[in-house]
Amino acid sequence: MILVTGATGVSGSLIIREFARQNAQVRALVRSRAKARAIETFPTVEIVEGNMLRPETLGAALDNVDRVLMISSAAERMLETQSTFIDAAKKAGVRHIIKFSGKGSGIGYNTKLFRTVRLHEEIERYLEGSGLAWTHLRPSQFMQFYFPGAPAMNLTTNTLSLPMENARLSPVAIEDVAKVAFALLHSEGHEGKSYDMTGPEALTMAEIAEQISQATGRTIEYVNITLEEYRRALLAAGAPPERADAFVELWSDRRGGNSESRVDLGTHEIFGVHPTTFAEFARWNAAVFCGESMPS
Ligand SMILES: NC(=O)c1ccc[n+]([C@@H]2O[C@H](COP(=O)([O-])OP(=O)(O)OC[C@H]3O[C@@H](n4cnc5c(N)ncnc54)[C@H](OP(=O)(O)O)[C@@H]3O)[C@@H](O)[C@H]2O)c1
Repeated sequence: MILVTGATGVSGSLIIREFARQNAQVRALVRSRAKARAIETFPTVEIVEGNMLRPETLGAALDNVDRVLMISSAAERMLETQSTFIDAAKKAGVRHIIKFSGKGSGIGYNTKLFRTVRLHEEIERYLEGSGLAWTHLRPSQFMQFYFPGAPAMNLTTNTLSLPMENARLSPVAIEDVAKVAFALLHSEGHEGKSYDMTGPEALTMAEIAEQISQATGRTIEYVNITLEEYRRALLAAGAPPERADAFVELWSDRRGGNSESRVDLGTHEIFGVHPTTFAEFARWNAAVFCGESMPS
């Protein structure tokens, strides 16, 4: 049995959709069934409730599980959540954990790195030392980040406001990552390996705004804001101060040209996955970018 955690989240729910698309059995760990409406109708998906921070709740989820794709939120006690889960999985007899990590992890502990990437690195090391078979999947920024939402894409002002100056990023479509995750969970030979993923183009924010404009027929303008303005906008949108600080670190790192700015399609090639371009992604999701429908 394969278990996917974080199945109600942005990436987890699209990975569960990939299982449904392939008509493949999967168990989905959710904290609350009420949040799982979008995935509970798929016939090959078994929903099980449990909390990764509370091993005593994970018995049914881990029963007879051979492989896990481990995802949890970046915001919420990620190190503790995933280390606790690794221990519980090992005790329950799981053989192999594929850690859903982040691009930049694995390049060496560096205090200048975005704190979430540092946590991913710590979890990767914990998993590697656990005695379980491991694989790290490290996507760059998701293309889904550019969907309307505070504080970046604003459909009232038709602006994309980010502190990126003219620096470039190569975001990846989660759908591509989901195809790779599916393949990793259904084939052999990936133990002890790490797979970095980006999208196929390194784009400036002005180019991303232009591609969204072309797909939607609305003119979206890129507005280069300062890091402090970005922080204030996050706080105004309700982000806790620590989260706002973390994002300032992230964008400061990104605009300095971090590893997410360089295209790396090696993993797409290994798994035979077509790299979705931002233009394709924007076209397929034009209604979401216009605020006319919700992301799937
Ligand atoms: N955003 C990006 O551009 C990006 C790029 C590369 C990598 N990543 C990494 O990808 C990972 C997932 O990101 P995401 O955006 O998909 O996250 P997300 O939307 O916040 O989803 C997180 C999922 O984890 C679940 N979860 C959290 N704590 C849990 C616990 N204690 N027990 C059980 N389930 C728990 C959440 O359940 P509830 O629904 O109950 O909250 C939710 O289903 C993160 O580690 C992030 O660092 C993100």
